[in-house]
Amino acid sequence: MVGLESLVDLSLQVQHVLAHNIPGSFVECGVWRGGASFLIAELLRQAGVTDRKVWLFDSFEGLPPPERIDGPAAIAYSQNTNSPSYFNNCRASLEEVKRIATELGLASYTEFVKGWFDHTLPANRDRVGPIALLRIDCDWYSSVRCCLDNLYDQMAERGFVLLDDYYTWDGCAIAVHEFLGKHRLRDRIESVPSEGCYGYQSAVFRKGGFSWNWDYRVRLSAQEIATLVQPESTFILVDQETFRNEIAIERRVLPFLERNGEYGGVPPDDETAIRELERLRQSGANLIIFAWPAFWWFEHYARFNRHLRFKFPRILENERLVVFDLQSKRSAHGPLAWSSGPS
Ligand SMILES: C[S@@+](CC[C@H](N)C(=O)[O-])C[C@H]1O[C@@H](n2cnc3c(N)ncnc32)[C@H](O)[C@@H]1O
Repeated sequence: MVGLESLVDLSLQVQHVLAHNIPGSFVECGVWRGGASFLIAELLRQAGVTDRKVWLFDSFEGLPPPERIDGPAAIAYSQNTNSPSYFNNCRASLEEVKRIATELGLASYTEFVKGWFDHTLPANRDRVGPIALLRIDCDWYSSVRCCLDNLYDQMAERGFVLLDDYYTWDGCAIAVHEFLGKHRLRDRIESVPSEGCYGYQSAVFRKGGFSWNWDYRVRLSAQEIATLVQPESTFILVDQETFRNEIAIERRVLPFLERNGEYGGVPPDDETAIRELERLRQSGANLIIFAWPAFWWFEHYARFNRHLRFKFPRILENERLVVFDLQSKRSAHGPLAWSSGPS
C-alpha cells in the first residue's frame, strides 16, 4: 500500500538510524500485509544487524470504524466498500502475514503482536523497550493518539516518528497536533519529500526537534562531495560552519574564511573574499564548494560571485551545492556552464 518513493525514504531513515547508532527497535503500528515492516527487516538482514527487531502491531482484523473527528473523507472511505482502495477494510490475517515473513526469510527479525492497540500497546511497551523508529500507519484519530500516548516516551533522542496518514486523514493530523501541544514538545513536523501511491504525502517528526530534511540534505551533500573531490585533494567548503564536521570523508577540507585551519567567519567584503580564495587556490585547493546555508553569499558578495563565475567552471549546481573547479580555467568563448540556480 505504500508508494515506492515513501519506501525509499523509509530505507534512508533506517540507514540513518543504523549509521548514527540511534538506539532501539523499529515499530510499526498498522502493518496490513507487512510491506513496510518487511522492508525494515530486510535492511536489518542486509546490514547484519541481529540486536534489533521490527515489532508489528495490528488487529489483523482490519480498521476500526472511523469517528466524526476523522473527517468526512474518512467516513466516506469506510462506506465505499466497492472502492479499489478499500482493500477489504485493510484486513489481513496474522497467519497470512507471518507466512510472508517466513517466505521472505525475515521471521527472526520480526515480532508480531495481534490485537487492538489500546490493549496491546500498554501490555507490550516494556517488552519493546527503546524505539529508534516508530511508523504510525493506522489512519484514524483514536488509533494514532493511542500509539503516541503509549510509545512516545520510549522514543530515543533523534528517533523518527513517521506519520503515514498525516496529510490523508483529518483525525491523524489532529491526534498529532493534540499530542505535541499537550506535552509542549518542540518536535517539528516535516513533510517527507516524496509522494505515496495515490499522490498522498507523509510526514515525520523526530524526538528532540531534530530535522530529517536537514540530515537528508547533509547526507546527499556528503555523497556528492565524495564523488566530486578526488582522494588526496583539498577543497574549500563554504557552509557557514554548519556541517563541515559531519561529512566524514577522507579529503582535506578548508573552511572559508580560513585562519590557521579554523573557521574565520564570513568575509567583511568582496575584496577579502577574492584575495582569500586566490591564496587558498595557490596553496593547492582544487575546488570551492558552496553549501545551501551559504547560498546568500552569491547575492551579498556580488563581485566575489562574478569573479568565481567568470574565472572558474561550475561543475555542479543543484539545491544543495554549487561547486567551482579552481584548477581549470573557464573557456573565454565557451558557453556558460549553467544558467539557472543561485546567481
Ligand atoms: C493502512 S493499513 C497499514 C498499511 C501497511 N503499513 C503497509 O505497509 O501496507 C492500516 C492498518 O492499521 C490497523 N489498525 C488501525 N487501527 C488499529 C487499532 N486501533 N488497533 C490495531 N490495528 C489497527 C489495521 O488493521 C490495518 O492493518
